[in-house]
Amino acid sequence: MRLTILGGGGFRVPLVYGALLGDRADGRVTGVTLYDTDPGRLAVMARVLADQADGVPAAPAVTATTDLDEALRGADFVFSAIRVGGLDGRATDERVALAEGVLGQETVGAGGIAYGLRTVPAAREIARRIARLAPDAWVINFTNPAGLVTEAMRESLGDRVIGICDSPVGLGRRIARVLGAARPQEAWIDYVGLNHLGWVRGLRIGGRDELPRLLADPVALESFEEGRLFGAEWLRSLGAIPNEYLHYYYFNRETVAAYRQAERTRGAFLRDQQRAFYAGPDGTGPAAGAALAAWDRTRAEREATYMAENREAAGAGEREETDLESGGYEQVALALMRAIARDERATLILNVANGSTLSVLDPDAVIEVPCLVDANGAHPVAVDPLPYHAVGLVTAVKAVEREVLAAAAAPSRTAARAAATKAFALHPLVDSVAVARRLLDGYARHHPGLAYLR
Ligand code: G6P
Ligand code: MN
Repeated sequence: MRLTILGGGGFRVPLVYGALLGDRADGRVTGVTLYDTDPGRLAVMARVLADQADGVPAAPAVTATTDLDEALRGADFVFSAIRVGGLDGRATDERVALAEGVLGQETVGAGGIAYGLRTVPAAREIARRIARLAPDAWVINFTNPAGLVTEAMRESLGDRVIGICDSPVGLGRRIARVLGAARPQEAWIDYVGLNHLGWVRGLRIGGRDELPRLLADPVALESFEEGRLFGAEWLRSLGAIPNEYLHYYYFNRETVAAYRQAERTRGAFLRDQQRAFYAGPDGTGPAAGAALAAWDRTRAEREATYMAENREAAGAGEREETDLESGGYEQVALALMRAIARDERATLILNVANGSTLSVLDPDAVIEVPCLVDANGAHPVAVDPLPYHAVGLVTAVKAVEREVLAAAAAPSRTAARAAATKAFALHPLVDSVAVARRLLDGYARHHPGLAYLR
């Protein structure tokens, strides 16, 4: 099996490679091709992976290229984890939004729209190339905003592209642990929504729904990340545990205020942190032999500061030790590949076409939902309908995503600007059409990838 990673110079590639190194079973990945537009980042990542493989027998062979077509030919699996505009772009997304007093997070609110508007054209082009050069490959999309980007790639790839995110897995694992499940992987999680916009409505261990027991216990509720972010009382009112990203909706004023007060936004922090990592002590990156340790230090700092502003706004304190190891993202990817490649049935929360799962959305809308996965791909399981308050958010945000998709495919600049304005204006976290217009102009001015909106 050969795996191609688009965005192969990206910081989280060693997580994936680490998971592959731990897979000794038949049919495992034996070759990895890293593709990136930046040869410098590729060289650094190749060094980190070489450090990781050191002493591991039959480690997957790694090659690196800046030629997309070469990377795609012969791939069995393609991971897409690109960042159009880099972390500089992410910091700009935050800054432009905050100047208007609204949220600029990379996937939620104005920032997510700006990021989507410049990522969708690139994702569509990549999907078309995959369809041509590797028509049998399965594509796993990590690129944020993951649901929207997966929906764009489906236009060329259909069910062969599947989006993933580790937030629901992390949430399920934390709840299962608090409830005392011996093996959190064996808990059945009733979760549905869009990417970064979903709710756990039940968690069955051995057939029994244990969530009511958790909701009735304020101490247990506030013993894990989401419980501390949202507070026991609000979770009890909802009767569900929201994805951590819903903190930006339910506590919007507080999170915007925390972002404004922060010395640096998340994107700016990561931009500076990663710049230092990729430069290394002498500008050419960490040396062979020292690269893995440097990467791991950087990773640990990134994990420890994840959603720091939200935790500060909520008075939620530090992250749990067990949440710092990662293990979510790459394990979902590996489990998905194994299920497809070896026809090993697995249930995973993934971003796939709605079909008839949520009656309030059309069949092509990408949603995030538990899926049964086998050699034929991922099939969403039936879930209970969402309550009205969740339907409101899910349908509003899907409408926004559709405007982003329309803007990026519009036949004229005027049509593109009209759709993009609608995307900003219709988002529940943008409170005025006038603000939406200024956001569009601000983003179009700053981002080369948004020249089509100028
Ligand atoms: C979570 C989200 C991802 C996001 C990641 C890193 O796992 O689900 O979508 O990419 O966190 O966030 P960060 O702020 O560190 O880039
Ligand atoms: Mn995610």
